[in-house]
Amino acid sequence: MDIRDAIYQRRAVRAYSDEAVDETTLRELIDAAVQAPSAMNSQSWTFCIVRDRSMLADIATRAREFMLANTPAGLLSHHANTVLHGAGFDIFYGAPALVLICSTTDHPWAVENCALAAENLMLAAHAAGLGTCWIGFAQAWLRSPEGKAFLHLPPSVHPVAPIVVGHPATTTAAVPRRPAEVRWVGQAPRESAAAG
Ligand SMILES: Cc1cc2nc3c(=O)[nH]c(=O)nc-3n(C[C@H](O)[C@H](O)[C@H](O)COP(=O)(O)O)c2cc1C
Repeated sequence: MDIRDAIYQRRAVRAYSDEAVDETTLRELIDAAVQAPSAMNSQSWTFCIVRDRSMLADIATRAREFMLANTPAGLLSHHANTVLHGAGFDIFYGAPALVLICSTTDHPWAVENCALAAENLMLAAHAAGLGTCWIGFAQAWLRSPEGKAFLHLPPSVHPVAPIVVGHPATTTAAVPRRPAEVRWVGQAPRESAAAG
Protein backbone atom coordinates (compact mmCIF):
# COMPACT_ATOMS: atom_id res chain seq x y z
CA MET A 1 0.00 0.00 0.00
CA ASP A 2 1.14 3.49 -0.81
CA ILE A 3 2.25 5.43 2.30
CA ARG A 4 -0.17 8.23 1.50
CA ASP A 5 -3.10 5.80 1.34
CA ALA A 6 -2.05 4.25 4.64
CA ILE A 7 -1.84 7.64 6.34
CA TYR A 8 -5.13 8.92 4.97
CA GLN A 9 -7.16 5.71 5.23
CA ARG A 10 -6.11 4.37 8.66
CA ARG A 11 -8.90 4.66 11.22
CA ALA A 12 -9.37 3.91 14.90
CA VAL A 13 -11.31 0.64 14.60
CA ARG A 14 -13.89 -0.05 17.31
CA ALA A 15 -15.49 -3.29 16.12
CA TYR A 16 -13.58 -6.53 15.47
CA SER A 17 -14.46 -9.96 14.16
CA ASP A 18 -13.60 -13.07 16.19
CA GLU A 19 -10.75 -13.96 13.84
CA ALA A 20 -7.39 -14.19 15.61
CA VAL A 21 -4.24 -12.41 14.45
CA ASP A 22 -1.43 -14.90 13.95
CA GLU A 23 2.02 -14.66 15.47
CA THR A 24 3.77 -14.10 12.12
CA THR A 25 1.60 -11.10 11.38
CA LEU A 26 2.16 -9.64 14.85
CA ARG A 27 5.91 -10.09 14.44
CA GLU A 28 5.74 -8.25 11.10
CA LEU A 29 3.87 -5.38 12.75
CA ILE A 30 6.47 -5.15 15.49
CA ASP A 31 9.21 -5.19 12.88
CA ALA A 32 7.52 -2.19 11.25
CA ALA A 33 7.19 -0.53 14.67
CA VAL A 34 10.91 -0.73 15.39
CA GLN A 35 11.71 1.02 12.09
CA ALA A 36 10.52 4.20 13.80
CA PRO A 37 13.07 6.86 14.64
CA SER A 38 14.12 7.08 18.27
CA ALA A 39 16.15 9.64 20.17
CA MET A 40 19.87 8.86 19.73
CA ASN A 41 18.71 5.60 18.17
CA SER A 42 18.02 4.40 21.69
CA GLN A 43 15.25 2.01 20.54
CA SER A 44 14.05 2.16 24.11
CA TRP A 45 10.95 0.07 23.60
CA THR A 46 9.73 -3.38 24.42
CA PHE A 47 6.52 -5.10 23.34
CA CYS A 48 4.11 -7.09 25.45
CA ILE A 49 1.45 -9.04 23.56
CA VAL A 50 -1.74 -10.52 24.99
CA ARG A 51 -3.89 -12.84 22.85
CA ASP A 52 -5.45 -14.89 25.62
CA ARG A 53 -9.16 -14.04 25.46
CA SER A 54 -9.82 -14.37 29.16
CA MET A 55 -6.80 -12.20 30.01
CA LEU A 56 -7.95 -9.56 27.51
CA ALA A 57 -11.39 -9.53 29.11
CA ASP A 58 -9.85 -9.33 32.58
CA ILE A 59 -7.56 -6.43 31.62
CA ALA A 60 -10.42 -4.58 29.94
CA THR A 61 -12.65 -4.90 33.01
CA ARG A 62 -9.96 -3.94 35.51
CA ALA A 63 -8.74 -1.00 33.42
CA ARG A 64 -12.25 0.35 32.95
CA GLU A 65 -13.04 0.08 36.66
CA PHE A 66 -9.71 1.72 37.50
CA MET A 67 -10.46 4.63 35.15
CA LEU A 68 -13.88 5.16 36.67
CA ALA A 69 -12.56 4.98 40.24
CA ASN A 70 -9.43 7.09 39.80
CA THR A 71 -10.21 9.80 37.26
CA PRO A 72 -11.14 13.07 38.97
CA ALA A 73 -14.67 14.22 38.21
CA GLY A 74 -14.72 16.62 35.30
CA LEU A 75 -11.52 15.33 33.70
CA LEU A 76 -13.32 12.88 31.43
CA SER A 77 -15.50 14.33 28.69
CA HIS A 78 -19.24 13.77 28.93
CA HIS A 79 -18.94 11.35 26.00
CA ALA A 80 -16.12 9.34 27.65
CA ASN A 81 -18.06 9.19 30.91
CA THR A 82 -21.19 7.92 29.20
CA VAL A 83 -19.25 5.33 27.21
CA LEU A 84 -17.28 4.04 30.21
CA HIS A 85 -20.40 3.73 32.34
CA GLY A 86 -22.25 1.83 29.59
CA ALA A 87 -23.25 -1.66 30.78
CA GLY A 88 -20.84 -4.26 29.43
CA PHE A 89 -18.69 -1.72 27.57
CA ASP A 90 -15.51 -3.46 26.42
CA ILE A 91 -12.68 -0.93 26.18
CA PHE A 92 -10.92 -3.33 23.75
CA TYR A 93 -13.96 -3.60 21.44
CA GLY A 94 -13.61 -7.39 21.20
CA ALA A 95 -10.17 -7.20 19.56
CA PRO A 96 -8.25 -10.50 19.62
CA ALA A 97 -4.85 -8.98 20.43
CA LEU A 98 -3.33 -6.25 22.55
CA VAL A 99 0.14 -4.95 21.75
CA LEU A 100 1.39 -2.92 24.68
CA ILE A 101 4.36 -0.80 23.67
CA CYS A 102 6.46 -0.05 26.72
CA SER A 103 9.47 2.12 27.35
CA THR A 104 12.60 0.54 28.78
CA THR A 105 13.89 3.80 30.23
CA ASP A 106 12.48 6.93 31.81
CA HIS A 107 14.74 9.25 29.81
CA PRO A 108 13.19 12.44 28.42
CA TRP A 109 12.23 11.00 25.02
CA ALA A 110 10.95 7.61 26.14
CA VAL A 111 7.30 8.37 25.42
CA GLU A 112 8.02 10.00 22.05
CA ASN A 113 9.96 6.92 20.91
CA CYS A 114 7.12 4.57 21.83
CA ALA A 115 4.48 6.81 20.25
CA LEU A 116 6.38 6.83 16.96
CA ALA A 117 6.66 3.03 17.09
CA ALA A 118 2.92 2.90 17.75
CA GLU A 119 2.10 4.99 14.69
CA ASN A 120 4.32 2.78 12.51
CA LEU A 121 2.56 -0.29 13.89
CA MET A 122 -0.90 1.15 13.23
CA LEU A 123 -0.03 2.15 9.67
CA ALA A 124 1.55 -1.24 8.93
CA ALA A 125 -1.51 -2.99 10.36
CA HIS A 126 -3.79 -0.95 8.15
CA ALA A 127 -1.67 -1.80 5.11
CA ALA A 128 -2.05 -5.48 6.06
CA GLY A 129 -5.85 -5.18 6.16
CA LEU A 130 -6.03 -5.08 9.95
CA GLY A 131 -7.59 -2.56 12.28
CA THR A 132 -6.06 -0.97 15.35
CA CYS A 133 -7.00 1.42 18.10
CA TRP A 134 -4.80 3.07 20.74
CA ILE A 135 -6.66 2.45 24.01
CA GLY A 136 -5.90 5.39 26.25
CA PHE A 137 -8.59 4.15 28.63
CA ALA A 138 -6.30 1.23 29.52
CA GLN A 139 -3.17 3.23 30.24
CA ALA A 140 -3.74 4.24 33.87
CA TRP A 141 -4.35 0.68 35.05
CA LEU A 142 -1.59 -0.83 32.93
CA ARG A 143 0.85 1.63 34.53
CA SER A 144 -0.39 0.88 38.04
CA PRO A 145 1.51 -1.64 40.22
CA GLU A 146 -1.44 -4.03 39.81
CA GLY A 147 -1.43 -3.74 36.02
CA LYS A 148 2.32 -4.23 35.74
CA ALA A 149 2.20 -7.21 38.07
CA PHE A 150 -0.64 -8.73 36.05
CA LEU A 151 1.55 -8.62 32.92
CA HIS A 152 4.73 -9.61 34.79
CA LEU A 153 6.46 -6.40 33.73
CA PRO A 154 9.69 -5.61 35.58
CA PRO A 155 10.02 -2.23 37.36
CA SER A 156 12.27 -0.86 34.56
CA VAL A 157 9.50 -1.29 31.95
CA HIS A 158 6.92 1.51 31.61
CA PRO A 159 3.69 0.94 29.63
CA VAL A 160 3.11 3.72 27.08
CA ALA A 161 0.90 2.67 24.19
CA PRO A 162 -1.77 -0.05 24.41
CA ILE A 163 -2.81 -0.83 20.85
CA VAL A 164 -5.52 -3.36 20.08
CA VAL A 165 -5.20 -5.20 16.78
CA GLY A 166 -7.69 -7.32 14.87
CA HIS A 167 -9.76 -7.86 11.78
CA PRO A 168 -12.27 -5.02 11.39
CA ALA A 169 -15.89 -6.19 11.64
CA THR A 170 -17.16 -3.14 9.75
CA THR A 171 -15.77 -0.24 7.82
CA THR A 172 -15.07 2.87 9.85
CA ALA A 173 -15.95 6.31 8.59
CA ALA A 174 -13.22 8.92 8.49
CA VAL A 175 -13.18 11.41 11.35
CA PRO A 176 -12.94 14.90 9.86
CA ARG A 177 -9.87 16.97 10.61
CA ARG A 178 -9.86 20.69 11.26
CA PRO A 179 -7.68 22.66 8.87
CA ALA A 180 -4.21 22.80 10.39
CA GLU A 181 -3.36 26.02 12.15
CA VAL A 182 0.03 27.06 10.81
CA ARG A 183 2.13 30.07 11.74
CA TRP A 184 4.58 31.02 9.02
CA VAL A 185 7.34 32.85 10.86
CA GLY A 186 10.01 35.02 9.21
CA GLN A 187 10.58 35.84 5.60
CA ALA A 188 9.93 33.12 3.03
CA PRO A 189 12.77 32.34 0.60
CA ARG A 190 12.13 33.54 -2.93
CA GLU A 191 10.40 30.78 -4.92
CA SER A 192 12.06 29.70 -8.16
CA ALA A 193 10.70 30.95 -11.48
CA ALA A 194 9.79 27.37 -12.45
CA ALA A 195 7.46 27.20 -9.46
CA GLY A 196 5.73 30.36 -10.74
C1 LIG B 1 -3.26 8.65 22.88
C2 LIG B 1 -4.56 8.14 22.29
C3 LIG B 1 -5.49 7.56 23.13
C4 LIG B 1 -6.68 7.05 22.59
N1 LIG B 1 -7.54 6.40 23.42
C5 LIG B 1 -8.67 5.85 22.90
C6 LIG B 1 -9.53 5.07 23.73
O1 LIG B 1 -9.29 4.86 24.91
N2 LIG B 1 -10.65 4.55 23.16
C7 LIG B 1 -10.96 4.74 21.83
O2 LIG B 1 -11.99 4.25 21.39
N3 LIG B 1 -10.14 5.46 21.03
C8 LIG B 1 -9.01 6.00 21.52
N4 LIG B 1 -8.14 6.68 20.70
C9 LIG B 1 -8.45 6.82 19.26
C10 LIG B 1 -8.88 8.24 18.94
O3 LIG B 1 -10.15 8.49 19.50
C11 LIG B 1 -8.91 8.41 17.40
O4 LIG B 1 -7.61 8.22 16.91
C12 LIG B 1 -9.44 9.76 16.99
O5 LIG B 1 -10.80 9.89 17.30
C13 LIG B 1 -9.27 10.02 15.48
O6 LIG B 1 -9.88 8.99 14.73
P1 LIG B 1 -9.05 8.17 13.65
O7 LIG B 1 -7.89 7.53 14.37
O8 LIG B 1 -10.01 7.17 13.10
O9 LIG B 1 -8.58 9.12 12.60
C14 LIG B 1 -6.95 7.18 21.19
C15 LIG B 1 -5.99 7.77 20.37
C16 LIG B 1 -4.80 8.22 20.90
C17 LIG B 1 -3.76 8.81 19.97
